[in-house]
Amino acid sequence: MSAAAVETVGVIGAGVMGTGIAQAVAVAGGAVVCVDTSAAARERARRQLVEGRFGLRAAVERGKLAAADVDRVAARISWESELSAVAGAAVVIEAVPEDLALKVRVFRELDRVAAAGAVLATNSSGFPVGALAAATDRPTRVLGWHWSSPAQIMRFAEIVVTEHTDPDAVATVTRLAHGLGKNPVVVRDAPMAWGYVANRVYWA
Ligand SMILES: NC(=O)c1ccc[n+]([C@@H]2O[C@H](COP(=O)([O-])OP(=O)(O)OC[C@H]3O[C@@H](n4cnc5c(N)ncnc54)[C@H](O)[C@@H]3O)[C@@H](O)[C@H]2O)c1
Repeated sequence: MSAAAVETVGVIGAGVMGTGIAQAVAVAGGAVVCVDTSAAARERARRQLVEGRFGLRAAVERGKLAAADVDRVAARISWESELSAVAGAAVVIEAVPEDLALKVRVFRELDRVAAAGAVLATNSSGFPVGALAAATDRPTRVLGWHWSSPAQIMRFAEIVVTEHTDPDAVATVTRLAHGLGKNPVVVRDAPMAWGYVANRVYWA
């Protein structure tokens, strides 16, 4: 995969999922701006990226990455403390804890600081995407991108669309997901239920 096939991606939250998502994008050649308000989380994420169970050294051991590429891939990710750092990203993936009020606050702020046409995606496990879209002035550019864990490895990508999501936004993230070697499946938001398709099947 060439770097040109992948756009600059913003990732909000450098926890388990955000770090894995950042790694998946960087391994594919993309530039990542990963924002976490916690300095300790950013430090842990830097370590996990390289030394973690699904990190870059483990990928080398599994024969998925050349040892010489570890530093190059790690250098594609910048770790930031302010949401405004994602201003240059075409796609921003939110992966803060599963707390609706927190996610609404993050989407309000992202709407203010992200580029005008940027797609804002949530990795929520099950909150209605429409609730986050409604927190912004760009509901047509908001969708869900529910990653499977570990994000570095699992290929299933659940792309969750509301009645307002612009097909062009869906095309942008579907193209990006394919570029990362993922298998995107587009599903409809379920405003009155928790979970999209995968988690509702899982918990049924
Ligand atoms: N863990 C999984 O298996 C899994 C799978 C799919 C989806 N998800 C979803 O992904 C999301 C993240 O889950 P996780 O397991 O990575 O959580 P986590 O607790 O490991 O990481 C969340 C990170 O967000 C940071 N954060 C909190 N507030 C922030 C803010 N305002 N701005 C920037 N960063 C902030 C925290 O410091 C933390 O580092 C949740 O919505 C979760 O439901 C998790």
